[in-house]
Amino acid sequence: MKFDTPAGTNPIDQMKVVGKPVDRIDGKLKTTGTAPYAYERHDVVKNAAYGYIVGSAIAKGRINSMNVVDAKSAPGVLAVITALDGPKLGKGNSNTANLFGGPDVEHYHQAIALVVAETFEQARAAAHLIRVDYTRTDGKYDLAVQAKSAPLKGDGSDEGSGAPPVHRVGDFEAAFAAAPVQIDQTYTTPDETHAMMEPHATIARWDGDKLTLWTSNQMIDWSRRDVAKILGIPKDNVRLVSPYIGGGFGGKLFVRADAALAAVGAKAVGRPVKVTLQRALIMNNTTHRPATIQRVRIGTDRSGKITAIAHESTSGNLPNGDLETAVSQTRLLYAGANRLVSMRLALLDLPEGNAMRAPGEAPGMMALEVAMDEAAEKLGMDPIEFRVRNDTQEDPEKPGRRFSHRNLTECLRRGADMFGWDKRMAKPGQRRDGRWLVGMGMAAGFRNNIVTKSAARVSIDAKGVVTVRTDMTDIGTGSYTIIAQTAAEVMGVPLEQVVVLLGDSDFPVAAGSGGQWGANNSTAGVYAACMKLRAAIVQKLGYDQARAEFTNGTVRAGNRSVSLGEAVGQAGLTVEDGIEYGDLDKQYQQSTFAGHFVEAGVDAATGEVRLRRMLAVCSAGRILNPKSARSQVIGAMTMGAGAALMEEAVVDKRFGFFVNHDLASYEVPVHADIPHQDVIFLDETDDKSSPMKAKGVGELGICGVGAAIANAIYNATGVRVREYPITLDKYL
Ligand code: MOS
Repeated sequence: MKFDTPAGTNPIDQMKVVGKPVDRIDGKLKTTGTAPYAYERHDVVKNAAYGYIVGSAIAKGRINSMNVVDAKSAPGVLAVITALDGPKLGKGNSNTANLFGGPDVEHYHQAIALVVAETFEQARAAAHLIRVDYTRTDGKYDLAVQAKSAPLKGDGSDEGSGAPPVHRVGDFEAAFAAAPVQIDQTYTTPDETHAMMEPHATIARWDGDKLTLWTSNQMIDWSRRDVAKILGIPKDNVRLVSPYIGGGFGGKLFVRADAALAAVGAKAVGRPVKVTLQRALIMNNTTHRPATIQRVRIGTDRSGKITAIAHESTSGNLPNGDLETAVSQTRLLYAGANRLVSMRLALLDLPEGNAMRAPGEAPGMMALEVAMDEAAEKLGMDPIEFRVRNDTQEDPEKPGRRFSHRNLTECLRRGADMFGWDKRMAKPGQRRDGRWLVGMGMAAGFRNNIVTKSAARVSIDAKGVVTVRTDMTDIGTGSYTIIAQTAAEVMGVPLEQVVVLLGDSDFPVAAGSGGQWGANNSTAGVYAACMKLRAAIVQKLGYDQARAEFTNGTVRAGNRSVSLGEAVGQAGLTVEDGIEYGDLDKQYQQSTFAGHFVEAGVDAATGEVRLRRMLAVCSAGRILNPKSARSQVIGAMTMGAGAALMEEAVVDKRFGFFVNHDLASYEVPVHADIPHQDVIFLDETDDKSSPMKAKGVGELGICGVGAAIANAIYNATGVRVREYPITLDKYL
C-alpha cells in the first residue's frame, strides 16, 4: 500500500481496540521469566557449546603473538580461535569498528579470541590462560584536545550523503553581533553506555551452509544483511530469530561480536555455539553514545524574538565513524531569521560511537534548552513565554514548508497549568523546604518522526484466528500489543483472537525498532496487510467491496453475513503487504513535541539532588496504546534523569578505555531516584504520518528532560552547571 496523500477516515478511526490501554500481551511471559531470550533457547537448540570472548588489553597497537597452548589443553576446550589464526571478518554496513581478525587493535576490548568449551566455566577458565604479546602505540583519547583540530562534517541524515557540513540561513554573525540580548555558552555531555538489562547474546547453528542465529537484535533485516557481509556468505543463507529482547537502547541495532563469533565458533566445532558478551566487556567492546562539546549562541531583540541562533557541536569517533547529530533539533525547533548549525568530527581511538537512546536530539536538547533558559533569564522573560514567542509552524530553514502537525505551545501551556508553574520563583535560590533548596525547571521536548517501509503477512484460519507475522521486534516497548490491536481493529475480531509472531527473518521485513519509528511504521504495515486480507475475503465471498463491514468476527454486506472462519474455510487465507511512503514527509516536516517539567530539591549543605516531581506533555499524533506509550515515556524520562545527573562513561585518557565498565560503577537511576511521574498525551492525530495517524513517542520522552532537570537545579540554587552529568562536585 502506497501512502502518499493524507489519510482519510479508515477502520483504525473506529478506535474500538486501538487507543485502549490494554495490558501487554507478552507481559505475563516477561514478568514470570518465561519469555525465551536468545541465550536460553534450549527449547530449540540442543547440545550447544559455550563460547567466551577475550577482549584486547590495549586500545591501540598490534598483537605480536598469542600463546594458546595452555588454553587449548584446558579441560573441556573444543576450540581456540584467535585474531591471528582465525578468519578476518568483514564489516557490516551499520558499524565501523573491526569486529574480529588480524593483528591490528583499534579499540580497547576489541575481540581478539574466542574459546569454545563444553561449559561456560571451562571456556572462561581457558580464556584466562591465553597470553598475548602486544606492541602498544599512542592513541588519541581526549575529546577536548582533539576537538581543537576537528574538521567539519555533514550528517548525511536528511539530504543524503551530500549534506553540507554547515547549514546557514541569513547572516548569523551580523545578526548576533547586533542583538541587544546575547547568550554564548558551551555545554558538554559525556560518553554514555546503553546499559540494557539483557547482555548481547547469540546462539549460532549451521545446517550445511545455512546459518541460524538466535540473537538479541533490534533490526532484523539490517543485521541479516550485515551478518552475511561480515561472514562473506549470501544473505539468503542467514536466518535471524529475535522474538524477545531485554532492552536494546540502540546498542542492539547492529551485529556485534557475540553473533559474529558464535557463527565462527559453531563452524569450527561443528555444533551449535552460544556466546554472550560478559557484562564487563560490553561497554568497551560494543558501541556507546559519544561525548559532545556544544556551543550555542542565541541573540534576541528586546521583545524576546530570536534574531540569531547558532549551534555547533563536536563529537569524536573512530575513522569512518559517525557524528552525534546534536544540532538536528536546532534546525527545526524555533523561529529566527539568521541561523547557523554545524558539526565537527574528532578522530578518537576509543570504542565506536553510535546510536544510543534518541541519538542526536537527546544530548542536543541538553544544550539548546539550557541556553534557552539562560536567554529567557537575561531577557527577564518567563521561559515558557520565551519559547511560545519563538514557536513556528514552518520549517525555519525552508519557509513555506509546514509541520505536518505541531502543538508545542499547547504542550507547554497544559504542562504549566498541570504542574503549577505559576508557583515558580523567577529568581533562583528563593525557595526553601527545610534543608532543601527547591526549584522548578522546564524544557521543550523535540524528536523527529521517521517514516520507513514495513511489511507483514496476515493469515486467517477456519476458526477465525488472525495470525500476523512480521520481522518487527519488541525491545520491551509493546510492539506485540499494538500490532495485535491494529489487526483486531481492522479485521473486526477481539484482541484474544489475534496471534502475533515477531522477530524472525523468515517473516516479511518490517521497520524494526529504532529512532522511535517502530510503532507507527510497523502497525501501518500490518494495517496494509489486513486491508488486503479484507479485500481478499470480500472478493472470495462475492460481496460488495464498498459495503462490506468487518465486525464481531463476521463480515457483512447488506443482509448477507458470515463468520470470518466460515468465509475462509479449512484452507484459510494468507496475504502479504506493507506500507510504502511517497514524499509526504518531504512536503511536511514531521516531528514530535513535548513540554517537560521538573521540580528538584538540592540539599543546601551537601548538594545532593532529589527529583521531586516530573511531568511530560506529549504531542505525538494518535496514541495507539496509552498504557504502553506511558511506560515508554516514563522510562525515557528516567533515562533523561540518568543523563542529567549520573551517567558518564569515564575515559582513561592515558590508556584509552572506559574505566567504569560495569553496572556497579556506571550509575543509572534506580526506583529510589525517581519521583512520581505524570505523562499526558494531547488528544490528536497526524494524518500525514501514516494510515495509523500515529507518530513515534518513546524517544520524545528523553529529549528535553535533562535540560528541564538542569534548569530546575539552577532555579533551586542559582548555580548554572554546563557540564553533564550535574554531580554535586560541580556546584558546591
Ligand atoms: Mo534507538 S538509539 O534508534 O535504538
